[in-house]
Amino acid sequence: MTVREILKMGDPRLLRVAEPVTEFDTPAMRELIADMFDTMHAANGAGLAAPQIGVNLQLVIFGFKQNARYPDAPQVPETVLINPVLTPLSDEMEEGFEGCLSVPGLRGSVPRHTSLRYQGVDQFQQPILRDVDGFHARVVQHEVDHLLGVLYPMRIKDFSRFGFTEVMFPDLDPNEDD
Ligand code: NI
Repeated sequence: MTVREILKMGDPRLLRVAEPVTEFDTPAMRELIADMFDTMHAANGAGLAAPQIGVNLQLVIFGFKQNARYPDAPQVPETVLINPVLTPLSDEMEEGFEGCLSVPGLRGSVPRHTSLRYQGVDQFQQPILRDVDGFHARVVQHEVDHLLGVLYPMRIKDFSRFGFTEVMFPDLDPNEDD
């Protein structure tokens, strides 16, 4: 088990466009994915993108049954998503609060597509195709943004709804929020 250091906003490595994955189910990839799950679970994250630990590949993980950082969120299946392509299923957008392990201590309301299709492959190069909405769609958009060098504060339209978690969500255990 290796919990890796999560890069924080301001690190230029978070602003890169990630490279496509071309080799699958290698020892290096198995170790990377195991480390990413260890790192995400240690931080109670809902998702993690490889660039957040300094690996510039199009690989994200996400999913949880219950999440301490988002106690009201419905469960999202545990997923390894590689070389993803997102297609919005409508023009409808909705605002919702997000945090990020690379932006510790803060939350902001971010407009996201309400529903979308995501396609890609898993770590065994098996195809993934899902139509999702709500929080699941939000998590995918947030994680895939990391592969484009985009952090959620760059998507905020209404900065009156951007602030410190401990102030805006005082009922959340501060130890659960990074
Ligand atoms: Ni993030």
